Amino acid sequence: MDKNLLENLSLQINKELYSAYLYFAMSIYFLEINMEGFAKVIKNQIKEELNHAKKIYNYLLSRDEEIILNDIKAPDTNWINPYDTIKSALEHEKTITNDIKHLYEMSKETKDYATEVFLQWFIEEQVEEESKFRCLLDKIEQTKNLGCEIIHIDRNLKLDEEYIE
Ligand code: FEO
Repeated sequence: MDKNLLENLSLQINKELYSAYLYFAMSIYFLEINMEGFAKVIKNQIKEELNHAKKIYNYLLSRDEEIILNDIKAPDTNWINPYDTIKSALEHEKTITNDIKHLYEMSKETKDYATEVFLQWFIEEQVEEESKFRCLLDKIEQTKNLGCEIIHIDRNLKLDEEYIE
């Protein structure tokens, strides 16, 4: 595998683990303000991010490549309200989408067809990831128009979202 592509795939493992760490922090935020529905959604997101990291790890192992692990930075946690928190989740997912696009371009440029195919799953996954948070933001925004409380959204999320420990 191209050295630069390998380094960036290893770095992506780090970014996916950072994503899980960020969502750990967000779940704590929501639990502290007693919004268990939002916390449930975010806790499911932690599992998804760990799965993303594992997928890349398994892929690199199957290619017999050396994986380089780096420090995971602590997330910034100065969110001012649920809207701000979910907005920063969406912004974060947009940066991950750009990372995946960059990796995909690199795999095309280096004619690494196996990696190109492997990354297609992530391209589709990022559409879902962004959509999930955009939808939550819309719901929060609607509380203003409908004159209802965000606590109603939280209650519905708590009922609708399945969570398996
Ligand atoms: Fe692993 Fe949320 O992107």
